[in-house]
Amino acid sequence: MTPILELDDVRKHYSVGGGFARRGASVRAVDGVSLRLERGETLGLVGESGCGKSTLARTLVLLEKPDSGEVRFDGRPVSVTDAATLRRGVQIVFQDPYTSLPPHMKVRRIIAEPLMIHRIASGAELRARVDGLIADVGLPAAVADKLPGQLSGGQRQRVSIARALALEPSLLIADESVSALDVSVQAQILNLLNGLRERHGLTLLFVSHDIGVVTYVSQRIAVMYLGKIVEMGPAADVYGQPMHPYTRALMAAVPSLERRGRERIVVRGDPPDPKHPPPGCAFHPRCPMAQDLCRAESPPVLEWLPGRHVACHFALGGESYGRSTE
Ligand SMILES: Nc1ncnc2c1ncn2[C@@H]1O[C@H](COP(=O)(O)OP(=O)(O)OP(=O)(O)O)[C@@H](O)[C@H]1O
Ligand SMILES: [Mg+2]
Repeated sequence: MTPILELDDVRKHYSVGGGFARRGASVRAVDGVSLRLERGETLGLVGESGCGKSTLARTLVLLEKPDSGEVRFDGRPVSVTDAATLRRGVQIVFQDPYTSLPPHMKVRRIIAEPLMIHRIASGAELRARVDGLIADVGLPAAVADKLPGQLSGGQRQRVSIARALALEPSLLIADESVSALDVSVQAQILNLLNGLRERHGLTLLFVSHDIGVVTYVSQRIAVMYLGKIVEMGPAADVYGQPMHPYTRALMAAVPSLERRGRERIVVRGDPPDPKHPPPGCAFHPRCPMAQDLCRAESPPVLEWLPGRHVACHFALGGESYGRSTE
């Protein structure tokens, strides 16, 4: 079957600065990303703040045009797919439930709006659809007549999800949609998303900086660092045996009894300035295993083991691949 979404070497650079000499630097927000999403799966996209997750998500819904590379939705390049098809097929739920809903609009109207704009339903049918969506996301019927300000953070998040589902998308992108919520509410929203995926045959792209959250909800994980995917594979494998030192560093930050006694790498320092990425592997200044090769050459993404794509010269260890255990 055709994957629902495919990205080939997608790039999005922003020029910043400028000035007299017009020699502004550029931020390589997304720097040659290739990935595919199979129908019905959840892919988790994880990485530190500023690594390009939202920029990548925005290029998928045409809120951002890639500088180069190709995005295919349902087998067709999005550059030739009409915008209406894409807007219906791919929906995005944004990270902040407190600012992403119009404050003066009642919930019923918020959820109805996409159905009205796309002339999908009106009158009694519209009402019934909205009631159905409210029930589907686990909200009581009474929220229909409330304003966003009268709801809790978790309820608002559910309203955002109901609004996104109104057009029956085949792909739902959740961009850090749980980080503003407390842990137990996060878990409920994650379970809701997974339930909706199963019930509606949705494909989910789940974006977060928290690898623990991402692993919980995803079948596959893609780890992003400074605009590039550095590791991608089945969630259980990446979690159980991370192959990129950056992934291991992210894991080490997740408190877990299971991982006690295993090797532990704590990522040091801040991510490099994205306007001036270091030569070679962008992770090398923070990598405890960096060798001369890493300082000189950027590692390509290779399939080191079946289904395991990693951009590290020493993904499988190697002689000079020092490991520390505690
Ligand atoms: N419109 C823009 N103009 C210039 N630079 C931008 C723009 N949008 C994003 N950037 C830069 O691109 C890089 C990636 O930003 P992006 O928002 O995609 O990161 P992110 O991974 O979503 O971060 P976070 O976890 O904080 O949401 C950052 O360095 C950011 O400053
Ligand atoms: Mg973001």
